[in-house]
Amino acid sequence: MENIHKDTVSIKSYDEMATYYENYVDTKPWNAYYERPAVLSLLPEIKNKKILDVGCAGGWYTKYLLDHGADVTAIDVNKNMVEITKKRVQDKCPVIQTDLNNKLDFIKDDSLDIVLASLVLHYLKDVTNAFAEFNRILKPEGEIIFSIHHPLMEILHFKRENYMAIELLEDEWTMGEEKIKVQFYRKPINKILQPLIDNGFYIENVLEAEPTNEFKEKLPEAYERLLKRPNFLFIKAKKMK
Ligand SMILES: C[S@@+](CC[C@H](N)C(=O)[O-])C[C@H]1O[C@@H](n2cnc3c(N)ncnc32)[C@H](O)[C@@H]1O
Repeated sequence: MENIHKDTVSIKSYDEMATYYENYVDTKPWNAYYERPAVLSLLPEIKNKKILDVGCAGGWYTKYLLDHGADVTAIDVNKNMVEITKKRVQDKCPVIQTDLNNKLDFIKDDSLDIVLASLVLHYLKDVTNAFAEFNRILKPEGEIIFSIHHPLMEILHFKRENYMAIELLEDEWTMGEEKIKVQFYRKPINKILQPLIDNGFYIENVLEAEPTNEFKEKLPEAYERLLKRPNFLFIKAKKMK
């Protein structure tokens, strides 16, 4: 893809983990028993709704939304992820390679009911463009549901001194036998929620979800930690009329 924004990160990382995503992420406890139950608890009725799945990765949400009767478009900056999602949904919806740091000008104004952005916004240095675009493409009272790294977790886990800074951090994820370096942007909560509000949304729900009992069975130590230190923040917001 030619039009990659200068601040876009982790494309190579997701290239490297594409096969893992295809084979394992559906059942990875962090996704299956922590992130997804929380996101799904925030979703409104999705049957016959027009939904944008942002940062679709391996397409778990894309397929879930299609299976529940939604009219879906999926986007991701990573070509391999786009191909995996296409394979999973078998041409039942458009899956488009595009960078969320740029304009989503292939989507019409006021045309969507829901934007779902699961674990993608922490890859953006500045979320302003994304929220401005979500506002443009959503119908009045359309909703956005997103999950994002919890700023508390990032400060504690990465032992950062300056909460107010916006900084590029690097983590190392174990993916099967491999270790893959992933970069993302840590930012204070104000730099997540104020751009949302400034771009015409009001917040309906702020969820600091607990993992499920299945997560406790698989990863008991992480479960106890997550009860005290949430990894992800979940937000539901509505576009003003
Ligand atoms: C953690 S994964 C998302 C997980 C996915 N929602 C799921 O539940 O399986 C993050 C995804 O965001 C994509 N991504 C990162 N930066 C992006 C950007 N600037 N524009 C669009 N997609 C981006 C990555 O390529 C990756 O596929």
